Amino acid sequence: MFSLAMNFLPAASVAAEKFESFFTIYLWIGTLLFVGTLGIGIYWAIRYRRRSENDQTPYIPHNYLVEFASVFFISVWVAVFFVWGWQDYSAIIAPQANEYEINIIGQQWNWQIQYQHGKSFTNEIYLPRGRPIRLIMTSKDVLHSFFIPEFRVKQDVVPGQFTSLRFVSTQAGEYNIYCAEYCGTAHSKMIGKVFVMEPADFEKWIDGVYKPEHAAEGAAPAQALSMAEAGAQVYQTKTCNACHSVDGSRVYGPSFKGLYGSQAEMENGEKVTVDENYIRESIMDPMKKLVKGYPPQMPVFRGMLSDEEVNQLIAYMKTVK
Ligand code: CUA
Repeated sequence: MFSLAMNFLPAASVAAEKFESFFTIYLWIGTLLFVGTLGIGIYWAIRYRRRSENDQTPYIPHNYLVEFASVFFISVWVAVFFVWGWQDYSAIIAPQANEYEINIIGQQWNWQIQYQHGKSFTNEIYLPRGRPIRLIMTSKDVLHSFFIPEFRVKQDVVPGQFTSLRFVSTQAGEYNIYCAEYCGTAHSKMIGKVFVMEPADFEKWIDGVYKPEHAAEGAAPAQALSMAEAGAQVYQTKTCNACHSVDGSRVYGPSFKGLYGSQAEMENGEKVTVDENYIRESIMDPMKKLVKGYPPQMPVFRGMLSDEEVNQLIAYMKTVK
């Protein structure tokens, strides 16, 4: 809509366009107020300066109209910016239909990128233009923050839990990834690239016959297991299958069938949405939120599954419907 302020940094996502409109208006109103306030200050300094030894500042009482009007207009603007910002932010973080999910694992000092089709990359993300993207992020060690300036999106990456970052890119091209949270010696080297491709090129990239010009790593190798397939193997090798069925039948724990995204009732009657964070918590700390009607007998898997394996297992659970 408006784009007067930040032409030096491309706005390459829907969020960036919204942010740019908001920020431009905010900047210009701020500029106007700054110049106005300073101008009045300078004018008064000259107008009411001390002209002689006997010069006395006159007694000037306050003015109800000016006070009321300034408080009123400031309040209106604060309200307008609040509602505008709230609406844009809600739209940016809202889940969308047909989201393309990518897992990100931050660690000192790089980004591991896991694709659903099985290929992993370091510091390089490949995206189709125009498709809603959901990054499902976690950290192996300390707090990081995933930041793509050209998309105007940033999200903390937290050890022990999942955070999401959603965006829709609008222009094919190359963009930067930064870590925006100081995380140790090589924090400033924790950088990467986003390659946004036209949807047709992205399909070719998936098929392994196309690579963006400056990409260091190649396309997806055909022999890789998909994340869900790898997760099915984790389900076997970590013996999840001893207690959890995938066909809906009751063994010792809840069946995986239709579990992801469902509402589970806890022992205390509380309802919990079965999302990535709940599944992970139930693997690492099973006694914390027990599903009603199941005995407290699941062993603790903390330290027995890597972050990659947890992501694969969750990807598998999503396919068991
Ligand atoms: Cu990771 Cu700073």
